[in-house]
Amino acid sequence: MKICCIGAGYVGGPTMAMIALKAPGIEVRVVDMNAARIAAWNSDTLPIYEPGLDDVVRQTRGRNLHFSTDIHGAIKAADIIFVAVNTPTKTYGVGMGRAADLRFIESVARTIAEHANGTKIIVEKSTIPVKTAETIKDIIAANARGWKCEVLSNPEFLAEGTAIADLQMPDRVLIGGERTPGGEAAIQTLVDVYAHWVPRDRIITTNLWSSELSKLVANAFLAQRISSINSISALCEATGADVDEVANAIGKDSRIGSKFLKASVGFGGSCFQKDILNLVYLCEHFGLPEVANYWESVVRMNDWQKRRFSSRIVRSLFNTVAEKKIAVFGFAFKKDTNDTRESAAIAVCRDLLAEQARVVVYDPKVPAAEIRADVLGKGAEDPRLSVATSAYAAAEGAHAIAIVTEWDEFRHLDYEKIFKSMHQPSSIFDGRNILDLKKLAAIGFRVHGIGK
Ligand code: UDX
Ligand code: UDX
Repeated sequence: MKICCIGAGYVGGPTMAMIALKAPGIEVRVVDMNAARIAAWNSDTLPIYEPGLDDVVRQTRGRNLHFSTDIHGAIKAADIIFVAVNTPTKTYGVGMGRAADLRFIESVARTIAEHANGTKIIVEKSTIPVKTAETIKDIIAANARGWKCEVLSNPEFLAEGTAIADLQMPDRVLIGGERTPGGEAAIQTLVDVYAHWVPRDRIITTNLWSSELSKLVANAFLAQRISSINSISALCEATGADVDEVANAIGKDSRIGSKFLKASVGFGGSCFQKDILNLVYLCEHFGLPEVANYWESVVRMNDWQKRRFSSRIVRSLFNTVAEKKIAVFGFAFKKDTNDTRESAAIAVCRDLLAEQARVVVYDPKVPAAEIRADVLGKGAEDPRLSVATSAYAAAEGAHAIAIVTEWDEFRHLDYEKIFKSMHQPSSIFDGRNILDLKKLAAIGFRVHGIGK
């Protein structure tokens, strides 16, 4: 059995590494048009930071896991082709700002049609709008020379920062396919791949459209919980309730559950906003404006939460941050990843720069060039934005610290030492509620948490 995966990103790389680890009899080839990225996968410094990933790659690379730019060769050789290219929100034309941009999916389908030389199973790993499988099938049917393909949907539910654990023991694996004899056989082939390590009762099979839609809906429900608790955080700040106490109290109800109730500066990541907007677009397309509005409010609430955080900083610093130094702790969209896509930190830094603050960012994993490019745009410079190599250096002489990512190291800093090095009075805005605010207040900090 030979598998190839087109797209060596945050999803394709770790997922294929896990298949290679658990199914040593399967040859896995990960290909990407980005040669620098492939070179990084073949080096000691992998292109993405993910706890445990180095170890899995070390065990499998060169054995039954290979990274290369030979997309055509990999397609020819493979029995199963995973498609894990990115599907960003469209930035132009019809559906701009909402619909998914499917040009990479389409071009990959054409490449497969052109270079495949026999029957293949094509697996959609990328998150895509419902009915994309039909597009892939149409393109292949129109271009293939005498061979057929089966298209399956197999969305990935891993979360960044815990990808290896999530892949090792997934809550479920979802496989959607056509309920025809050919479709059923393809589903079974993919089930057998996962059954190398995933208990059979956790592998769910559905029709194609249910599978495609489930991914969007899962992300929308998760994000909705965060926007819900974040909306309540504003009410807590107004009333004196503590949002963590409220979350704990409601989360004990087994019908609600305790996960994904952490109030924060706002959710980020490549998926939540993109997938909800995608769902919104689908609903509008199918004439369901009420449903579209309902889900869109989850994104609106998240935008408001990010703005609310920066406004609170400005308000608390006597309504002006002009020329004040603000240390931003954390830039990744969550801890244990170097991914910054849609990170709340981007919005917060931009808001503060717009108020003419001097912003110093420290993140343990995100390179300085990435931080600058994300906040200012590629190649742009702003003397007010700088990047420090430690939390201590970032805080030196600062008027305030804003915690934006919940990196563990921020919990264990010597805040007495930091306090002494700062401009007085000094404030901490804990956008993740990870610090003991009472202790910090005792040191002398002015403290502000989310929903506190
Ligand atoms: C994934 C999913 O595919 C996306 O749908 C989901 O919503 C988020 O996670 P991710 O792995 O994070 O995307 O994307 P990225 O890290 O950008 O990787 C995609 C890779 O595909 C890139 O390395 C890019 O170079 C490659 N690519 C893209 C190709 O090889 N060919 C193309 O035509 C387009
Ligand atoms: C998400 C889904 O969890 C995953 O199943 C899907 O495959 C991809 O999208 P990811 O974006 O990698 O994964 O991370 P996730 O842990 O879901 O966090 C997303 C954002 O929500 C982060 O910015 C995180 O900090 C924030 N978050 C999460 C909160 O603010 N509060 C919470 O309670 C949980």
